Amino acid sequence: MIKSEGPQDFDPLASETFDSPYTVYRELRQKCPVAHSQAWNGFWAFMNYEDVHAALLQSDTYITSLQNVVPKLAFTGRRPPLHLDPPHHTPYRRALNALFRPQRMKALEPAIRQHTRNLLQPLLDKGKGDICEDFTSHLSIYVFAEWMNMPAALLPDLRSIGRAYNFAVQNFEDEMVRATSLKLYDIARQVIQLRKDQPLDPLEDVTTALLQARDDEGNLLPEDMILGTIRQVLVVGIIAPTVIIGSICVHLSRDRQLQQTLRATPALIPDALEEFLRLYTPYRGFARTANKEVTVNGITIPKDEPIALVYASANRDEKVFPNADTFQLNRPNINEHLAFGMGPHRCAGMPLARLELRIALEEILGMTNGFELCGEIQITRFPEIGALSVPLLFS
Ligand code: HEM
Repeated sequence: MIKSEGPQDFDPLASETFDSPYTVYRELRQKCPVAHSQAWNGFWAFMNYEDVHAALLQSDTYITSLQNVVPKLAFTGRRPPLHLDPPHHTPYRRALNALFRPQRMKALEPAIRQHTRNLLQPLLDKGKGDICEDFTSHLSIYVFAEWMNMPAALLPDLRSIGRAYNFAVQNFEDEMVRATSLKLYDIARQVIQLRKDQPLDPLEDVTTALLQARDDEGNLLPEDMILGTIRQVLVVGIIAPTVIIGSICVHLSRDRQLQQTLRATPALIPDALEEFLRLYTPYRGFARTANKEVTVNGITIPKDEPIALVYASANRDEKVFPNADTFQLNRPNINEHLAFGMGPHRCAGMPLARLELRIALEEILGMTNGFELCGEIQITRFPEIGALSVPLLFS
């Protein structure tokens, strides 16, 4: 294993609060925008918007196929599209993209709204609840299952194993990450077998679409890579919505006026969401590896060393977003935020994520007269950032 020699500019394992990482990142952007940490065998971190953005667009130099996240998590095989570089990654993206088209999102909306209301009601009946633990962590699995046409029989396993996997990732329990990841592969195998036996319309079903997709030479995609793709999407779309809805509820508990404004005028919610995605970017960053020596901001990084592109820091870069730590509706350049990444690996599930977040926020605000924090916020760790447990009191 490569041991990256370099200074210790920051410690990703230091204890954090909900707000503290942003102060650390502000200092790093000022003093040390290309930072190095010795944690996890050493890695570099780009903190500035400009450097992160440039690396994302130079995907022939900054590749994902060696390591796509810090700390390295993937012990159990290659999972397209995240683990492949273009052009190998392209057929998988083509197949996935079609399943997120606007008509399909529109068709999913009533079912997602119903799940949202069903999950919120028990919390409102009790007058309190944990918006991450009791609501969003379940909602994201239901939404995902709807999108995936997941058979009801597999849903309980996906719920329990998906949650155990997330827990193990959060607590750096490598053996448990491996064990639960293998169980997620078992679920993916069952979904593939089902769609081989009972194919659906490929425009409506991601597994059928992948089984019928062809690469640029006209060949069917290898089955182990289809398995990897299904396994990849089984978790990639579940963690981030849980974290960001929690963070948004913390913000709206602190800013009751904004809470009332959005409740009174739900048409503002889509724009507010984009600003929340910038402020509370739930994936702190994904990683790349430079396949040749690069010099960035005067720092030379040897070939083959992992580099975290810290989206959560880039999105608070004052040079791009003035008053970056404050919520500001309708920033003129809000479309430049990097919460979903950029370039060839930009989030495939963006339309579904936006739909889920919009409905969740519309219903949390619409079904309540007010809510406030009533306990300790628990937070996530690298490679996520934000809230994992947010106890709320509802009125
Ligand atoms: C708030 C919600 C979400 C956020 C913030 C988010 C964020 C991201 C980011 C930052 C990436 C880029 C990774 C990189 O740069 O290497 C990504 C990739 C991806 N996301 Fe999302 N995501 C969300 C929800 C979802 C959902 C709901 C799905 C699907 C059901 C999904 C599927 C994917 C896939 C398949 C990729 C890999 C794309 C590729 O490598 O070409 N995401 N996501």
